[in-house]
Amino acid sequence: MKYETKAIHDGFKPESSVQGVNIPLELSTTFVQEGISDYQDFVYSRGNNPTRNYVETLVASLEEAKYCLGLSSGMAATSLVFGLLKSGDRVLFNSNVYGGTYRYFSNLFNKNGIDYTVLEHFNDLNAHDLDGVTAIFIETPSNPLLEVTDIRKISKIAKEKNVLLIVDNTFMTSYLQKPLDLGADLVVYSATKYYSGHSDSLAGFVLTNDDELYEQLKFLQNTFGSVLSPFDSYLIQRGIKTLPLRMDRHLENAQQVADYLDNHDLVKEVFYSGLNKGENYKIQNSQAKGHGGVLSFILDDHCDIDVFVKSLNIFDLAVSLGGVESLICHPSTMTHESYPIELQEKIGISHRLLRLAVGVENIEDLLEDLSQAIEKSERGE
Ligand SMILES: Cc1ncc(COP(=O)(O)O)c(C=O)c1O
Repeated sequence: MKYETKAIHDGFKPESSVQGVNIPLELSTTFVQEGISDYQDFVYSRGNNPTRNYVETLVASLEEAKYCLGLSSGMAATSLVFGLLKSGDRVLFNSNVYGGTYRYFSNLFNKNGIDYTVLEHFNDLNAHDLDGVTAIFIETPSNPLLEVTDIRKISKIAKEKNVLLIVDNTFMTSYLQKPLDLGADLVVYSATKYYSGHSDSLAGFVLTNDDELYEQLKFLQNTFGSVLSPFDSYLIQRGIKTLPLRMDRHLENAQQVADYLDNHDLVKEVFYSGLNKGENYKIQNSQAKGHGGVLSFILDDHCDIDVFVKSLNIFDLAVSLGGVESLICHPSTMTHESYPIELQEKIGISHRLLRLAVGVENIEDLLEDLSQAIEKSERGE
């Protein structure tokens, strides 16, 4: 079966006499045992829940992965993976990852004896940079500067040095990019974004093909307890049915918005790998089936960015991405406010940077909205 068909049919076959076409929502937290020590598949929902099992099976199938674990948010998924680390470990991060991920490692790693380094120009990584490193965590395309990291290249070096490679694939989903196939050991998702697609559910996933890693993560999932609820499992699998359709439209719209901004006299710079400029474009085409629905840009110096944001009628000013609606955000004070200002400036998250999560609305409406807001921002109205 192809991806689009699997997205609708995988993970569930009607088994009860009711034969509904949708997965059943199993809200029970506990399940009856026939006798002492007679455990069935389901004992207690923190360990296993039928509705969560359906969506985990579906997400694993779409990723062509052996294992998937459903968590209560993207940060719960990242935290689960960080739960594998121990005192003395050292982790390398690419220079602009989601602010919540930065908040985690910059505040909690040192307390637990774990060291970290934030590395710019990740594609220049060589084996020597991995001396003493136990894990690499990358987000590609990165957030919010949309820099593309060459997963194949990094995984080859990581394997040589026995370093665990973790990829946050939230911006892509398995529809566009499959990091395990490219050599990663673990993939994490905020499924709050494209898998949900409707900004109404918090969710996360961790995927792997490695039996040992899975056993450890399954233990941690039950122990930490931040599992994906049955209702959110239901909403996520419902969202996934239209993921390929939505994603195709996100890509089309984002490409047109990027081209429009790139050709606009009052736009200084656009960050999007779909613009045919240099390394990002080449690497992205070699490892993914599209450039995603998120892009960032900087308006000309004499445009008032506050006026611009307030003048938009369709793009709402809000964090997050991946829903059907278009959003705009100001990374330095919103998604990435946990980065110290000096680090923001060093890695290019300038105060004038704006990030768009391009939705699936009519493209002419989106371009018109941007156009009128840019004009107003120039006049300072
Ligand atoms: C790339 C990325 N990873 C992880 C997260 C965290 O996900 P959640 O908000 O579901 O905890 C986000 C949230 O914005 C994100 O953008």
